[in-house]
Amino acid sequence: MGFRIMGTGRAVPANAVSNDDIAKFVDTSDEWISQRTGIKNRYISTGETLNDLAKEASEKAMEMAHVTADSIDLIIVGTLSPDRIYPSAACELQANIGAVNAIAFDINAACSGFLFALQIANGYFATGGAKRALLVGAEILSKMTDWTDRGTCVLFGDGAGACIVDYDKDAVVTFSSGSDGTKGDALYCNNRPINNPFLKNESSLDHTHMDGQEVFKFAVKTVPRAIEDAMEKAGVTAQDVDVFLLHQANLRIIEAVAKRLKRPMEKFPLIMSEFGNMSAACVPILLDTQIRNGTVQRGMQTVMAGFGAGLTWCAAVFVY
Ligand code: UT7
Repeated sequence: MGFRIMGTGRAVPANAVSNDDIAKFVDTSDEWISQRTGIKNRYISTGETLNDLAKEASEKAMEMAHVTADSIDLIIVGTLSPDRIYPSAACELQANIGAVNAIAFDINAACSGFLFALQIANGYFATGGAKRALLVGAEILSKMTDWTDRGTCVLFGDGAGACIVDYDKDAVVTFSSGSDGTKGDALYCNNRPINNPFLKNESSLDHTHMDGQEVFKFAVKTVPRAIEDAMEKAGVTAQDVDVFLLHQANLRIIEAVAKRLKRPMEKFPLIMSEFGNMSAACVPILLDTQIRNGTVQRGMQTVMAGFGAGLTWCAAVFVY
């Protein structure tokens, strides 16, 4: 019992920003960013909203899947940067694409958001609550980035990836996921402060804070474990896996995971060079690029994994 991926799509803002562009206003260099992260470019919104990108990505996914919006009965958007605090980005997307029959809600699991959405959708499928889901990972991280902090502003990009997923009673799908809220301060952004007639608060809106080394250590330890656990549940080994689609935070993290799993880097497609770290949007955009360029093909044993703020992590094993 599980799912089948029917179609994918992606959208990014028009404004491409190179490492050299960032080096014009913060003390950094293309050499440092490329060597320490693998990132060379990212797309930063100059007006596109999260829902503009989510709609474009979703329409491309529906087109690839040859399905209409009214056939979708579940929409989940993984995001930490919705246009509105409420209603959810998923409800806005539902209205924008005309998915009149869908249940729609957001989840915030940061960079693991798309994988958590996939696991939730699988639960809906298992309990008969839905048969077709539109899953989206979408972020406008640039609005919460501190553009004076060279430790974080060079990393992030904006974008949206979408996926149409159908219930498939014959599919074998396994997950391994978890959270560690005790490490929440490793990567966070505070919401608007309490401010009312009884408590005056003049502080301004917060931005992203990250202890990069803490998150790095967590990722290289936890991601291989989660993948191994999900593979064991599926009865497959790393040698059986055709492609590993990992969250694109840092090339060095992916190299460490590949080494731990004893698999060559060719099995780990990379897109951080072009897109940077787009949090929940990374994995679905990676999936879309690799399906459209022919790297991911039908029948392939596939692993997807996300990790990030929370801290959260999730790995999935399935056949594309
Ligand atoms: O998406 C979810 C989660 N996020 C992640 O997975 C991020 C995980 N962490 C990382 O990818 C890495 O920790 C970073 C890329 C964020 C940082 O790399 P690092 O190798 O851990 O560097 P660092 O923070 O230890 O900094 C090393 C040096 C410092 O200088 P000193 O103190 O040695 O003189 C920093 O000030 O590099 C300096 N530095 C920079 N220099 C030029 C930090 N950022 C920059 C920069 N340009 N952008």
